[in-house]
Amino acid sequence: MLTTVKKGGERQTEGREAGAHFVEVFERRLKRREVLQGLVVGGSALVLAGLGGCGRRSDAAVEPVTSLTFREIPHRLDETHHVAPGYRAEVLLRWGDPLFAGAPPFAPLAQSGAAQALQFGNNNDFIGYLPLAADSGADKAEHLASANSERGLLCVNHEHTRPHHMFPKPGAAAPGSTPVQIEADMAAHGHSVVEIEKRDGRWQVVLDSPYNRRITALTETRVSGPAAGHPRLRTAADPSGRKVPGTFANCSGGITPWGTVLTAEENFRHYFGGDTRAIEATHPREAQMHRRFDILQQSRHYWQRLEPRFNIEREPLEPNRYGWVVEIDPYDPAAPPIKRTALGRFQHEAATVVAEPGAPVVVYSGDDSPDEYIFRFVSAAAFDADNLENNRDLLDAGTLYAARFDDDGSGRWLPLRHGEPGLTAADGFASQADILIDARLAADAVGATRMDRPEDVETNPVTGRVYVSLTRNTERAATDAANPRARNLAGHILELSPPGTDGARDHLADEFRWEVFVLAGDPKAAGADRGRYGAGTSEHGWFCNPDNFAFDPRGRLWIATDGFVDFGVHDGLWAADTGGPGRALCKHFFGCPRGAELCGPCFTPDGKTLFLAVQHPGDEEGADFANPTTLWPDFKPGMPPRASVMAITKEDGGEIGA
Ligand code: FEO
Ligand code: CA
Ligand code: CA
Repeated sequence: MLTTVKKGGERQTEGREAGAHFVEVFERRLKRREVLQGLVVGGSALVLAGLGGCGRRSDAAVEPVTSLTFREIPHRLDETHHVAPGYRAEVLLRWGDPLFAGAPPFAPLAQSGAAQALQFGNNNDFIGYLPLAADSGADKAEHLASANSERGLLCVNHEHTRPHHMFPKPGAAAPGSTPVQIEADMAAHGHSVVEIEKRDGRWQVVLDSPYNRRITALTETRVSGPAAGHPRLRTAADPSGRKVPGTFANCSGGITPWGTVLTAEENFRHYFGGDTRAIEATHPREAQMHRRFDILQQSRHYWQRLEPRFNIEREPLEPNRYGWVVEIDPYDPAAPPIKRTALGRFQHEAATVVAEPGAPVVVYSGDDSPDEYIFRFVSAAAFDADNLENNRDLLDAGTLYAARFDDDGSGRWLPLRHGEPGLTAADGFASQADILIDARLAADAVGATRMDRPEDVETNPVTGRVYVSLTRNTERAATDAANPRARNLAGHILELSPPGTDGARDHLADEFRWEVFVLAGDPKAAGADRGRYGAGTSEHGWFCNPDNFAFDPRGRLWIATDGFVDFGVHDGLWAADTGGPGRALCKHFFGCPRGAELCGPCFTPDGKTLFLAVQHPGDEEGADFANPTTLWPDFKPGMPPRASVMAITKEDGGEIGA
């Protein structure tokens, strides 16, 4: 088997003998587990007992092994959303909804930056929920300790926009290209903090809350950590290299136990444009990295018309100021967002925190691009659970690692530490700042494993195992056991097991075990495209292109998809046990309106509300502002489809999925 690695920024191909073909390894592991669980019912080595249930009708009576009690919904593709029977799915916040008392109402034909900066942004992605105690005089520690599931701060990323869906065409100009539209576009990005409260069983927005806040592509942010102030972060407008206007491309994220939100800057490349050849002589490293990030001559947005810094020929270093994890304190509306450079610069999909009192903090993150890496950050100092203020700068010092997956099911976190082999000045890294700014090159140098578009990385709060979604990778040239398809159209989910036992796993250890949890795709497909799930998965339980994850308080995995629609089925939400007889038995819970992907699954601490982010409804080939394919969620003439956060509750008020 061949494994492709990069060294010093150049692709090289090395031969490596695999212990066994991936499919055999996967089936052997699944079979061994099922033998232990008494589930193997016979059949040849190539037929998984786990697939015996595929194709059965969806009915609780034939699904006795899973802990998830809801009745599945069928695969569909239509103009609206669908949720399992017995559940309520209500729109809580839509793109353009006012977030402040006195904010203007949404006016789709006359959007402006000033109005949008007071309204909920577009294309909601990550959702975090931070509790507010019933007593408004509580301090942050008391708010967090309250675990209040009926009043809290909803912290929502606004990842991107599609200008041709967002704006009417302004005469002969391109949608999103006029100064007013560009200002509205910039204000539709970033992040929202919104106080919400459950009254009489229904969630409401608190419009006059002092916590409500919009962070946009123009909000001033600070830069901290080892790369702050580095010459490669300095620009004409910011000679300090420590003050960056705005955050955008905010995809998924994470919540810290000290009450902050981490938002991950992902596809920042789409906002920059220019010819890298023009900066080759003066900024060779930037030219190389801008190409690696796929910054093109023509950006997707028109921001450089208002701000020339988005033209890489004018300001070659500007992209170095994006692609970071940004920390926001939603309990302090005056606190500036802070870009934490110690966590590295790449297309961060998420930032998932594991913290034990008195121990260093771990943050997991995927780099969502074909053949890029999975990263782990370990803080130098320990988490102080007694004085939350002491954790304020915890993410500014520590070690960044990239993951190597070996074909025998073992894995290793490889430190990206300046001075170590491959990471010296002679290798092109003058300092730790260079390693962090060019984390992809550093991961190449240490031989980390190139992955099939790593998206979310989430930890199971019950077992401590770590789950990684690999969305797809149609560009893979050579397979390995962790990326087993040469043309991965449907994605897969890996399960990482740090040393220890369930409930007591050591996330600080440098070694781990891993296996494939789900190979997404149609279980009836032929050859390598065939999907593989736990036994009993129904004809509606399979899915493609897993993206974001959430765990409920019982440790069940909820899987949101981005790209099942390419297979003619709505994107949506599926759920599975991660252990026991229902392990990897996937059930279909929620479906999006056509053209939308699902993001941001987030449970309240009591597991009784599930927030979902329906992103870019109606984003389909040939559709635009004038010709939408759905008017979800308003279904009113003249009102475009609007990305929205939904609150899902059980009609009987109980726990979701219980
Ligand atoms: Fe923003 Fe990788 O999804
Ligand atoms: Ca995502
Ligand atoms: Ca996505």
